Amino acid sequence: MTFALTPERESHLAEILSRYPNRMAATIPVLHLCQEQNGWVSEEIMEWVAHRLGISAAHVKGVATFYTLFNKEPVGRHQVWVCRTLSCALNGADALLHHCEKRLGVHVGGTTKDGSVTLRTAECLAACGQAPMMQVDRDYHENLTLADVDTILDRLTRS
Ligand code: FES
Repeated sequence: MTFALTPERESHLAEILSRYPNRMAATIPVLHLCQEQNGWVSEEIMEWVAHRLGISAAHVKGVATFYTLFNKEPVGRHQVWVCRTLSCALNGADALLHHCEKRLGVHVGGTTKDGSVTLRTAECLAACGQAPMMQVDRDYHENLTLADVDTILDRLTRS
């Protein structure tokens, strides 16, 4: 097993574990911590998490594969999640998504050739009053126009 957290993240891990009544309850935040470092959650990382938490690898894999926010394969440096649920759909999410695909040269699920962006869709992200919206990494972008999307994608593909 070669995966290891950085010293800073090891400290964060200790802090996470101190907040939960048992180690199994910390599975999700620990997976997030690992993904933050590695970009995605590999089989090796799932086994590492199971080992560190003293729980079964099957439980960790069950959690990691249930939640779409855990990447099970390598992704771009940035992730764009376009909401397609009702409010966003009624306010132009499809056009927004097609615009993203065209601008990035990828289909949903794909990563740009330069590795800068992975494009995804999401179910309601609880910002329905500001539809259409998309999440970029950890930030919400709301009431989007296609021009707004251009500005956001330009910034992402340059970074
Ligand atoms: S429908 Fe898009 S945020 Fe709720």
